[in-house]
Amino acid sequence: MEKFPNKSIYPITMNINSRGHLEIGGCSTVELASKFGTPLYIIDEDTLRTSIKNYKQEFSSRYTNSLVLYGSKAFTCEAVCHILQEEELGIDVVSGGELYLALKTGFNPSKIYFNGNNKSQEELVLAVENNIGGVIVDNLYELELLNQIAISKSKNCSILLRITPGIECHTHEYIKTGQIDSKFGFDLTQVNDVIEKIKTRYRSLKLEGLHAHIGSQIFELNSYADLVNIMLKLYKEIKTKYGIEFTKMNVGGGIGIKYIEKDDPPGIDAAADIITKTINESSKTLGINKPMLLLEPGRSIVGTAGITIYQIGSTKEVPGIRKYISINGGMADNPRPAMYKAIYTACIANKMLEKNKDVVTVAGRFCESGDILIKDIELAQPVSGDILAVFCTGAYNYSMSGNYNLVPKPACVLVKDGNADIIIERETYQSIISLNHVPSRLLKYKNTSLNK
Ligand code: LLP
Repeated sequence: MEKFPNKSIYPITMNINSRGHLEIGGCSTVELASKFGTPLYIIDEDTLRTSIKNYKQEFSSRYTNSLVLYGSKAFTCEAVCHILQEEELGIDVVSGGELYLALKTGFNPSKIYFNGNNKSQEELVLAVENNIGGVIVDNLYELELLNQIAISKSKNCSILLRITPGIECHTHEYIKTGQIDSKFGFDLTQVNDVIEKIKTRYRSLKLEGLHAHIGSQIFELNSYADLVNIMLKLYKEIKTKYGIEFTKMNVGGGIGIKYIEKDDPPGIDAAADIITKTINESSKTLGINKPMLLLEPGRSIVGTAGITIYQIGSTKEVPGIRKYISINGGMADNPRPAMYKAIYTACIANKMLEKNKDVVTVAGRFCESGDILIKDIELAQPVSGDILAVFCTGAYNYSMSGNYNLVPKPACVLVKDGNADIIIERETYQSIISLNHVPSRLLKYKNTSLNK
């Protein structure tokens, strides 16, 4: 078994039971399907905790002054926040909603950091009032707004500045460009001007360092070494010019995971090695103090912990071309194939020992031709009623899900040692229309024949 879950497609507790059924967290996924219904998101607690512990261990053993902030945009809910707190992680939030959830579940505010390119006044007020660890300021508009809010609340607010370092990453490659075309952050030519402004005008803001995030699903670790070097060079320039010595450095998230066999992401140990070594060497060469290291991994913490199970319904054979099998979910619960051409691994959960395979295309149930979950995959002769399990759906699935076609969002269960607990309930028809209102002049059309 891989030490680091992000290097495996499968959750660490995966097993095949004597009936040839897929088990996760000691629970038969076939039984979970009949107990909780499908589609169903399943989060394996052991895989999630292992990934968290790996990050903590690999970074803190090499660099004591470090804090891992979970990138909660990947997937968050109350239960996940409780696990993160038990494991003593910090959290990166990108909206009032994520911030509210972190605060409501009792997160130590000093371990909450707030990202985003257009935070609202209301969101920033929530951050300032609760004294969070840091607001990662993205632009001049926000700087002004945040300073005003801090003054009006008689508070000082710790900030980091988000910069675009001119490194752009995709899964297997990265490029360095002088200038990067991004909606996020300050480009390097603006940094001096911004610091000047903070020193002279924005006295309620306490600038503690810089932040950068170079991309997601990254396999190429040298990009992080380049990032650290660029950032620390700036730290030195700023120290020389303004006498400001930054105490924190946030290098964002982005480490990739294995979705399909040919993916070969780095282990967390290798990432920790290169990042911490570069900080140690570079700060020594430049003659600056080593800052506290912050990281914001999302996908590589929760991605592999999640699987989604669906039931197969209709099938269609286009002779000589393709066989479609349709599932009872698709692009609304996992928009990644449609949005990013993401490729997933899947299996028939009730036929794990079946040797004969068919090549089929897994179609979603949403009214759109592009709703294809997996194209041309080998599966154990799928027929109506079978349970399809799709792996690595822990990150950016539930968090990006929607109600397209007014289909209720699936439930989410947390599995551990043979127990399965609902952590997010399945939506109902009633709940998805619960925010609707009918102007009184239209009420004559109200249909009361349905049960509430
Ligand atoms: N920090 C910042 C500022 C970010 O923008 C992100 C992700 C992260 C941390 C976490 O990155 P991770 O470790 O999860 O790669 N929806 C896309 C991914 C979008 C990532 C957005 N930012 C997907 O499904 O592939």
